[in-house]
Parts: sequence; C-alpha cells; structure tokens
Amino acid sequence: MDQYIHGIAVAARGVPVTLIISLVAVLGGLVLGLLVALAKRSKFKILRGIATVYVDILRGTPLLVQVLILGYGVPQLVRAITGMQFNWEPLILVGFIACGVNSSAYMAEIIRSGLQAVDIGQTEAARSLGLNSRQTMRYVIVPQAFKIIVPALGNEFVTLIKETSILSMVGIVEVTRRGTLWASQSFQSFPAYIGVAVVYLIMTLTLSRLVSYMERRMAQSDRS
Ligand code: ARG
Repeated sequence: MDQYIHGIAVAARGVPVTLIISLVAVLGGLVLGLLVALAKRSKFKILRGIATVYVDILRGTPLLVQVLILGYGVPQLVRAITGMQFNWEPLILVGFIACGVNSSAYMAEIIRSGLQAVDIGQTEAARSLGLNSRQTMRYVIVPQAFKIIVPALGNEFVTLIKETSILSMVGIVEVTRRGTLWASQSFQSFPAYIGVAVVYLIMTLTLSRLVSYMERRMAQSDRS
C-alpha cells in the first residue's frame, strides 16, 4: 500500500506545472482561437484561407508531433540558421506555446459554433434598433455566444489537463514525468503510473464538477 501512497504523492508534485500549463494554454488558446474564428468569418478570402489551413494543420497532426517539432526541431533550426546556441529556457515555454497554439485550433471551432448558435433574429433586432455590425457583435452576439460555449470551454480545459502529459516526452517535469522519473529509479512502475492516473482523475473530476456548477448557475440567471 505504501508504494501507492508514495506514487500518488510523487505525481502530485507535478500538479502545479500541469495546471499552470493547462491554464495558460486555455487562456492563450481562447484569445488566439477568437482571432482565428473571426478570421474565418472575414470578408477577405486570403484571411479565411489562412485560418482554414491553420486549423487543418493543427488538428490534422498529433499534438505529440507538434511538441517534438517545437521542443527539438525548432532549436535545431535556429542553431543552423543563426549559428547561435539556442535552447528553450525555461523549458515550460514549449508547453505554453505548443498547448496554447494547439488548443486555439479547437477553440476557434468552439467559438465559431457558439457564434452560429445565436439566432439570426438577434442580429436583425439589434440592427433595426440602430446598432452597427460591430456593436451588434460586441454587445449582442458575443455575450450570448459566450454563455453557449462555456461547457465546451470547460471540456477543452479538462482535455488540456490530460494532453499536457505529452509534454513529458520533451522533459517538462509535470505529473506524468514525475511518475516516469520515480518509476525508473524505484522500479515501481505499477504504483508510479497508478499514482499518476489518480492525480489526473482528481484534477479532471474536480474541474468538470466545477464546470457543471457554473453551467447551472448560468442557467439560473437566465430564468430570473
Ligand atoms: N491527442 C490528440 C492529438 O494529439 C488530441 C489533441 C486535442 N487537443 C485539444 N486542445 N483539444 O491530436
């Protein structure tokens, strides 16, 4: 039993890193994703094209491969081009960028579906009240769309918490890497990875409860 407790304790030490990366990635992904979603609705064909290619590439290649390109590929490229020594410093930057950019592609789709879900009558009403298209977007559509996408945003956060485990492959010491390190020095692979699993489970369950609570709160404010 002791090894299992120890396994959980070891994995738990990676929680701050895992949570910080996930949080930065969700927020960064949300902002980037909003830009991409707006680009997809733009009247300029080129902008729409760029946004489409961006989303296609990021969703069509594994996050693991993207992490390897950014973590190992990019430093090598920079060294080859500039002749300068380049290493990610601090390494956690790889996590912020890779997960944030990857998430932005999924976020863009979430935001797009949220904007689409707001009834066209809302736009018509706002426009006939004299709001211009910018004001309509800002004061009428976006607030309603945001409410619609809250559950999906919560899901994306939960997904990211699990996906950050991929970062253990480039040496970022988050929850999974803590487990791997302990497993390789103690040979307690089973307790180590069970510990890792338990720690992820606690994080994801807590977060999804929080999201459904928020959803209920928002539904309440709709009724009153
Ligand atoms: N693991 C999958 C991949 O490598 C899914 C990534 C999901 N990412 C996200 N931000 N929802 O492509």
